[in-house]
Amino acid sequence: MTEPRKIHIKTFGCQMNVYDSERIAELLAPQGFAETSDVEDADVVVLNTCHIREKAAEKVYSELGRLQQLRRRRQAAGGDLLIGVAGCVAQAEGSALLERAPQVDIVVGPQAYHRLPELLHRHARSRSAALDTDFPLESKFDRLPEELAAAPDISAFLTVQEGCDKFCTFCVVPYTRGAEASRPAAAILAEARRLVDAGAREITLLGQNVNAYRGAGPAGEAWDLARLIGALAEIDALRRIRYTTSHPRDLGAALVAAHREVEKLMPFLHLPVQSGSDAVLRAMNRRHTTDDYRRTVERLRRARPDIALSSDFIVGFPGESERDFRATLALVEEIGFAQAFSFKYSPRPGTPAASMRGQLKDHLKSERLAELQALLARQSAAFQAATVGRILPVLLERPGRHPGQLVGRTPYLQAVHVAAPHARPGDLIPGDLIEVRITASHAHSLAAEPLAGRAGAARRSPQGYAACA
Ligand code: SAH
Ligand code: SF4
Ligand code: F3S
Repeated sequence: MTEPRKIHIKTFGCQMNVYDSERIAELLAPQGFAETSDVEDADVVVLNTCHIREKAAEKVYSELGRLQQLRRRRQAAGGDLLIGVAGCVAQAEGSALLERAPQVDIVVGPQAYHRLPELLHRHARSRSAALDTDFPLESKFDRLPEELAAAPDISAFLTVQEGCDKFCTFCVVPYTRGAEASRPAAAILAEARRLVDAGAREITLLGQNVNAYRGAGPAGEAWDLARLIGALAEIDALRRIRYTTSHPRDLGAALVAAHREVEKLMPFLHLPVQSGSDAVLRAMNRRHTTDDYRRTVERLRRARPDIALSSDFIVGFPGESERDFRATLALVEEIGFAQAFSFKYSPRPGTPAASMRGQLKDHLKSERLAELQALLARQSAAFQAATVGRILPVLLERPGRHPGQLVGRTPYLQAVHVAAPHARPGDLIPGDLIEVRITASHAHSLAAEPLAGRAGAARRSPQGYAACA
């Protein structure tokens, strides 16, 4: 068989999987694999999977069915296709995945994918499936190449922390990603500088519990996330810093202060609350009450009055009464969210909540989800509409679909289509941070025009964030 040369990586799930997929591409580039966005063109397909809800996990199997057909067509024509499964389904199901989907050649967990080159060789030698779902003692980060495989996006992800020790009773992450571990600050700063040197202008620090970050500092002392953000802010050409996902319990005073003091830290925070009922939060083992959440939001808003919040919600957790659900709606009304994700509770094998009494019927979950989503949609539409007429700094990320149009984001992570048809050629490019006036709001994006500065050129924004009118 000739050596496979093109790899297609399909990513499901959270941003940490997006980051991992990029690392997988980098890892395999020196082995002679070039990435392709076209599955038909690929010699190797890797599905980087998510196990968080049943639907997410099931998607993987339908995808594997399609890949098996593609392989059969290839084999009929004398070719072949190698199929790999990485990520959280690989970790959670391991050899059970191979039983259900024997067409899979390689199974590799999220903490072991630095061993992919070795697994590929093992598979080529034995012609049987190769599996690695260890949580190795060595950190994958120490084994991954430092060279970027491709230019990063203007807005890049950087994983600083992984795993989770919280054990919310509904959640698979502590099992699929393992225990909380933080990367050393120096490695993160070096990776950030590489990204910025290659063109990134915004970095989102990632972790399942990113605000629990406690990594070794350069002198061996422990750094928290606030200290890491402070050090990153000193990289000149880096204009914006974000971090996700935070647990309400770990949002300490230093991080709140960073929101007041670090201009490059964007005033937008994803802070999942899950439920507005203390009884449900207790059953979820969230280790915070609704009052804790309220106080944290108050502290953040005192530090940074324009901060916008986003959250995750689960409806229909076992035992959730009508009154509990009403309490969630009331908390949403009270806090006000710029954006949110909400889900029906999905029982996950091996988690405590899956065997709790009081599982709710699906139609009740659906009704509650629809009611919550209607309220959240009203809030996010109101937040979008309230930005119309404002002057805001926008980081341009890519050209738009229409001539003269660029797409960027506000500090609050809203997508903005900036119309700059009269800009001089080369005047505005992705990576520029400019001031715009928001002219209209649509469901998922805003429209804006650049403010004119001297000589009619677009007005640059002086800071990572400018407190505009
Ligand atoms: N670490 C983050 C969330 C990780 S999972 C945190 O602690 O908030 C992303 C979101 O998926 C969760 O916030 C939760 O709302 C949702 N989720 C997790 N497990 C789920 C399940 N079993 N059913 C439905 N939604 C779930
Ligand atoms: Fe899952 Fe809870 Fe950990 Fe978030 S904090 S990853 S919801 S166990
Ligand atoms: Fe999914 Fe794993 Fe992320 S379960 S949400 S891909 S950590």
